[in-house]
Amino acid sequence: MPPITWHPGLHIGIPEIDEQHEKLTGMINELCLAYAEGRDKAVLSEIIIGVADYAGYHFDAEEKRMREAADPEIEAHLAQHRGFLGRSIGFLLSFVDGREELTVEVLDYLTGWWVGHITGTDKNLGRYLAGRGAAS
Ligand SMILES: [Fe+2]
Ligand SMILES: [Fe+2]
Repeated sequence: MPPITWHPGLHIGIPEIDEQHEKLTGMINELCLAYAEGRDKAVLSEIIIGVADYAGYHFDAEEKRMREAADPEIEAHLAQHRGFLGRSIGFLLSFVDGREELTVEVLDYLTGWWVGHITGTDKNLGRYLAGRGAAS
């Protein structure tokens, strides 16, 4: 479960979104590190709640950009966000509630999804917004 190294290859070219991606990447890394260090549940739970809140905030910001630019891919993109919130974030919150154990597999899935989504769907969004002159 190595940390995600933030690098320019992860930029989608929209400064607001890139900043949010970098911030959430840092929070996910913090969670993985705390888990690897065996930090207690209170510490992990606090980070998880921060990740869940910020993921929601970030997805809302992307949705706003998509709506403003009439992105034809919006529904498929939002379905991916909902899937992530329901599966990965939902699972993390179940751990906070005491209904699930946190495992390395859950964290691997979380980090894999996050990087895959940024480099796939979100990069496509960046290209679309750039093409519409809406990349600032
Ligand atoms: Fe994103
Ligand atoms: Fe996205």
